[in-house]
Amino acid sequence: MSSQSSLRAWRGHLSVACLAALWLAGCAEDAEAPPPPDPKLCQESTLSYQNFAAPFVITWCRGCHGKDQPVAMRQNAPVGVDFDTAEQVRAGSARILLRATGAAPTMPPAGGPSEQERELLAEWIACGMK
Ligand code: HEC
Repeated sequence: MSSQSSLRAWRGHLSVACLAALWLAGCAEDAEAPPPPDPKLCQESTLSYQNFAAPFVITWCRGCHGKDQPVAMRQNAPVGVDFDTAEQVRAGSARILLRATGAAPTMPPAGGPSEQERELLAEWIACGMK
């Protein structure tokens, strides 16, 4: 076998492997999709931006993600990813949900909020961010 044909054969295997990986990734994504919010939970939810989300982001996020933070204080939080207003928090909610809630949250980088606080954040987002 020339080295070229074995390379071709290897590429063939690789693309099958890639398809399998894509398929698995698709399955994993389905499995991890958050369940739709329980309508009863949302009916009863009293969380609002004022009484919950604003204090949450002030305490846990804005030290780095605030537009008035000098660059040196942002600890590498990307410039422009700011949570100063309800509009910014609502607009960023898909990423906030992904980074700050769930089984393995990655924001804030050093952790901090309790699991219960994170669940409330997910509830506030799932129930329409009133
Ligand atoms: C100590 C500083 C710090 C705090 C506090 C912090 N972040 Fe971050 N954040 C970063 C850094 C650094 C990055 C860029 C690296 C990365 O994405 O992991 C980032 C990136 C992000 C991004 C943009 C990247 C993406 O995945 O879309 C989002 C959204 C985010 N953080 C959300 C939050 C939320 C929500 C909180 C509060 C619960 C928070 N962060 C608290 C430092 C911080």
